[in-house]
Amino acid sequence: MKYDYKELGLANTKEMFAKAYNEGYAVPALNFVTIEQLNGIVDAVIEAKSPVILLVSPNLHRQLGQEMTARLAQVAADRIKTSGLDIPIALHLDHGMSYEHCVEAIEGGFSSVMIDGSKLPFEENIALTRKVVEYAHARNVTVEAELGILKGKEEEGTEGTDESMYTDPAMAVEFIERSGCDSLAISIGTCHGLVKMVPNEDGSLPELRYDILEYISERKPGFPIVLHGCSNISPEYVEMINKHGGSIEKTAGIPDGQVHKASKLAVCKINIATDGWICGLANTRRILDEEPKAIDSRCFTLKIRPIMKELYLHKIEIMGSANRI
Ligand code: 13P
Repeated sequence: MKYDYKELGLANTKEMFAKAYNEGYAVPALNFVTIEQLNGIVDAVIEAKSPVILLVSPNLHRQLGQEMTARLAQVAADRIKTSGLDIPIALHLDHGMSYEHCVEAIEGGFSSVMIDGSKLPFEENIALTRKVVEYAHARNVTVEAELGILKGKEEEGTEGTDESMYTDPAMAVEFIERSGCDSLAISIGTCHGLVKMVPNEDGSLPELRYDILEYISERKPGFPIVLHGCSNISPEYVEMINKHGGSIEKTAGIPDGQVHKASKLAVCKINIATDGWICGLANTRRILDEEPKAIDSRCFTLKIRPIMKELYLHKIEIMGSANRI
């Protein structure tokens, strides 16, 4: 079945980014894998009056299927409309790995797609992005591309990389001009997954490469930059997971202050996935331990939703996107 994103009540990211760039904030791009997360996201954006981008990974898109993905986004948009607020909400395909998958997502009601050609040689990345742009723009859908490589993997079952490769800012400018993409994800020191920053010898954390952002924005003023891999990996959730039967590594995420600083520069979209996962899972493990006699999942699902809402309100605050409608 085909869907038109406008008929689903979803927004195009172009206007969201123009406002974010001009006013110096970033739109939170929030991944979800459960209904509690999705409801927590919508609760938070209604309370904070923040624009939002729902991030759907290729794995989740496959798992839910076209129909369910489109309808969930439509319900999220309807909940916002029913609240009486005019909050823009977009449905975005995260890390689309092929032209065909981007086409499928666009036909399935996504208002924005990412084509991730970052592992391809420069010219091939441009050619693939151009092809997706031509298809998407004819349908008023926006396209995010990626240049530079982020360490880590998106989620279990996906391919990861061991090394980061900072984006070359001059190549980014050329890429923007030649590919026709609407926004560009670049690598300035953030990483996917749990393992992000390696502390310096004195224990401090390295700073993101804001100079790369500045170089691009001086030459391409108004052009929206995207940052992936911006979770904070709060020790609170890592400890909770490990205390209640899990076994994950304690690592350093991206400090909130650095995400805040980037959001005031050319960065208009900031992706968060891992923080939502570990917050939801940590609290699920905790509640299951505390309620050994429970016989259905509502013992934790009902309690998780407000916890997720608080997490996303915090993200909105860091990115400065509250009251931007
Ligand atoms: P995190 O793993 O830091 O949450 O980043 C997610 C992401 O960039 C999804 O594209």
